Amino acid sequence: MAFRILPVVVIGILVLGTPGLAAQKGDPQQGQALYVEYCLQCHGGRGEGWGWGNKIPPPPIPIRDLSDPELMNQLSDQFLFDIIKGGGEAVGRSRLMPGAGRVISDAEIWDVVAYLRSLTKKARGSKEKER
Ligand code: HEC
Repeated sequence: MAFRILPVVVIGILVLGTPGLAAQKGDPQQGQALYVEYCLQCHGGRGEGWGWGNKIPPPPIPIRDLSDPELMNQLSDQFLFDIIKGGGEAVGRSRLMPGAGRVISDAEIWDVVAYLRSLTKKARGSKEKER
């Protein structure tokens, strides 16, 4: 019996455990530098959304606030990883969200995920006290 259960447990840990662990391992500071280079032009300096004001018209679909805890709590680490790596198309969203998988490594994508998570913590921290 143990032989049958063990693989299930191992796969379970890999599938469920790894993304969380990887996101924790991601370095938010490293992620910030990558964000500034690859994401800021569309998502704004702090994830708040379109940053060009009226200078360049925004894309025809809304870019939501990535520092909004209500939004971000609905998005799993794995979803964030997938949409950053493969772009909107990879997760059934708009292709106006480009994938970064060709220009940055998986480890760097986890850094970006860690940075996005830190934006939410800071947004929350302004209302509550940061833990
Ligand atoms: C060319 C503009 C553009 C760039 C560059 C871009 N995005 Fe996006 N992003 C979008 C658009 C447009 C959407 C909305 C897609 C949709 O909802 O169908 C989006 C959606 C997202 C979402 C999902 C948010 C939600 O509404 O659920 C995340 C997370 C995200 N982007 C992160 C990033 C990160 C991180 C980078 C940099 C690696 C990046 N994006 C680069 C345009 C961009």
